[in-house]
Amino acid sequence: MNIHPVTASAVESFSQTQDPRLKHILTSLVKHLHAFAQDVQLTEAEWFRGLEFLTAVGQKCDDKRQEFILLSDVLGLSMLTVSMNNDRPKACTESTVFGPFYVHDAPHYENGDDVSNGASGKACVVQGTVKNSDGQPISNAVIDVWQADDEGFYDVQKDHLKHAQARGVLHSRADGTFNFKSIVAEAYPIPMDGPVGTLLEATKRSPWRPAHLHFMIKADGYETLITHVFKKGDPHLQSDPVFGVKDSLIADWIAGKDGMTILNFDFVLNASS
Ligand code: BEZ
Ligand code: FE
Repeated sequence: MNIHPVTASAVESFSQTQDPRLKHILTSLVKHLHAFAQDVQLTEAEWFRGLEFLTAVGQKCDDKRQEFILLSDVLGLSMLTVSMNNDRPKACTESTVFGPFYVHDAPHYENGDDVSNGASGKACVVQGTVKNSDGQPISNAVIDVWQADDEGFYDVQKDHLKHAQARGVLHSRADGTFNFKSIVAEAYPIPMDGPVGTLLEATKRSPWRPAHLHFMIKADGYETLITHVFKKGDPHLQSDPVFGVKDSLIADWIAGKDGMTILNFDFVLNASS
């Protein structure tokens, strides 16, 4: 297709940009945006509607709510970026989206403690080993875990709650093992009370994230792993609104000998280069 004169002018407008990466990104962005507008033969009314939508996305953001990340999530852009930047050897645990509900100052726990801290849900034990791709245990790995309660809410979504629930930081033992008590993960809908919810409704998409537990694991000499463990059998595994599910991250919460529900999951970190 012939390049439109306005596209050529917009691309040329960045020709003096000193930073080569910035120049590349802006030039490519303009080319793709213009190609998109031509592809759909964008009307002026549609262009304005799009601007209204993005304005509403911005207006929904505050220090607790990031509607732009949610928009990136439901368009698959977050997961595409995660996938492109975390291409690891097959033996290593795969990454998935970070999500908006991580907090920096989660309480610290010892192995064996109950991180649910009063959150509602069915009690369970989560246990496993942190290791490297040769199978060697990694000691003192920092394991950050967070999850929603059985009503589908993270502690940070509850204005009345003054303490952390269902999140915490632990360290792997000398043999790489870790274990903690928590509650069984349940499916929950992503926040639907903003413009991203309107988009999902207009396109008849499911807002339900399959049940999952979030992990961020850090250890000296290894790449940080940001991932989830998804619950096997969850009916929403095929329709995750943020495209975060990977087969290797699906695991079973099983009944243990004493009737306690147990999740066993080992994490394999990639040595940093
Ligand atoms: C989450 O899993 O916490 C999440 C991820 C993306 C969008 C909304 C929620
Ligand atoms: Fe989540």
